[in-house]
Amino acid sequence: MTVTIVGAQLGDEGKGGMADRWSESASVVCRYQGGDNAGHTVVHDGEEYKLSLVPSGAIRGKTNVLGNGCVVNPETLFEELDALQKRGVDPDVRVARRAHVIFPYHRVLDGIEEDVKSESDFDVATTGRGIGPTYEDKAGRRGIRIGDLLDTDVLRERLEYVVPQKRALAEEVFGVETGEAFDIDALYDQYAAFGERLAEENMTVDAGTFLADRIDEGEDVLFEGAQGTILDIDHGNYPYVTSSNPTAGGTCTGTGLGPGIVGDGEIVGIAKAYLSRVGTGPLPTELGGVVGQTPDYDEDTERGDEALATELREAGGEYGTVTGRPRRIGWLDMPMLRHSTRANGFTGLVVNHIDTLAGLDEVRVGHAYTLDGEERLTLPATTERWADCEASFRSFDGWDDADWDAIADEGYDALPENARAYLDYISDELDVPIYAVGVGPGREQTIVREDPLA
Ligand code: GDP
Ligand code: IMO
Ligand code: MG
Repeated sequence: MTVTIVGAQLGDEGKGGMADRWSESASVVCRYQGGDNAGHTVVHDGEEYKLSLVPSGAIRGKTNVLGNGCVVNPETLFEELDALQKRGVDPDVRVARRAHVIFPYHRVLDGIEEDVKSESDFDVATTGRGIGPTYEDKAGRRGIRIGDLLDTDVLRERLEYVVPQKRALAEEVFGVETGEAFDIDALYDQYAAFGERLAEENMTVDAGTFLADRIDEGEDVLFEGAQGTILDIDHGNYPYVTSSNPTAGGTCTGTGLGPGIVGDGEIVGIAKAYLSRVGTGPLPTELGGVVGQTPDYDEDTERGDEALATELREAGGEYGTVTGRPRRIGWLDMPMLRHSTRANGFTGLVVNHIDTLAGLDEVRVGHAYTLDGEERLTLPATTERWADCEASFRSFDGWDDADWDAIADEGYDALPENARAYLDYISDELDVPIYAVGVGPGREQTIVREDPLA
């Protein structure tokens, strides 16, 4: 049995928390895409863990796998492992030999390209982790993989091919001086040492075979998506996206398991009860705005609902886990969720942050869009047309703040009636059952109606 956890919106929906919660019954937790651009929070026993590369099963002592669809920066991986060990968590992490390696020059090039694009307001506001440039090299067949770090002849040969190209790109195309990040000998020494540590700690695997063996032995595997559907390179709001496939199809290509195995399991979409986004791009249900991220927004511009956006940002702790940037805030966007439900084939849904919306008189939902005078229930295929969409809202009566711990103990029926009406609407519109509802960040602050692995 497998369960795939997918972000239904724009990332930071609370995937890490659910992966932690549901991994209780799984023996393996596997990431299938993305890299240290992800920031997944697990809160348990008063401790908060912010995980970037290490899958969220780590906190429960599960076996964790970074699949071939991931891009791995060994430096941040080891830093994260060392920091967890200092806190008494000693995770078993295996890395696919087919996964691509993020090098320092990828990070530098990520920054350079963002700078250049920002001159014409075209920047994506990436996390600066080198994600895009690494996936570019993978697709360009000049990438270096985890397996290559363990074979130093191959490592040197690949670096000698690729680094002069990167140096020329930085210096001659972008006019930026390069340093150690583009020095073949320095890179070779540092990355051969990472390879040695990976080998010594027996951390590398052929991910597909490793996972298939565990599944054959009857064990349950949980796939933990990073980012979200609207950040998907194919199904998101291109070009304001990440460079991988967070959508459920990525589980197959990113692990080496067939669609039959993944599709036989459950695919659970994780959504917030409203929207948050770090980074640029249109957002038809946005409240207020954030300098440098909201198109056409600057501090002097008066924008409606600024105060409400600030209130929700503070109540929900909406600051980027990786970069600390304030997240943009909006009402729930149903056309986005309909798109996401179709692209992923959700069998269940989790709606988090019901507590964050408490205390409002009115909770609004972007039910549909109006585009060229016509109603649309889902997203147009181009981001430019999406920016032309105007949200038409439905209004729900709000619910009061409550003793959420007690409600989490008692279960779904203890939720305020208005919150249940809101959840029923979401479930009916998407025709997907709600498996769980988040009423706080802690492991026990989730009302589970259906645990797909129990
Ligand atoms: P991920 O990237 O999808 O794993 O999500 P993040 O960890 O980046 O962001 C989610 C944030 O919301 C974290 O700080 C979580 O602890 C918190 N969180 C998750 N679910 C809930 C919830 O139901 N209520 C509240 N108040 N916080 C939540
Ligand atoms: P988790 O897994 C929210 C956003 C960045 C930027 C765009 C591309 O915690 O949900 P990248 O560095 O990937 O090239 O940036 O995607 N982004 C995220 N936003 N949550 C994330 O991960 C994100 N990972 C990337 O802000 O807009
Ligand atoms: Mg996050």
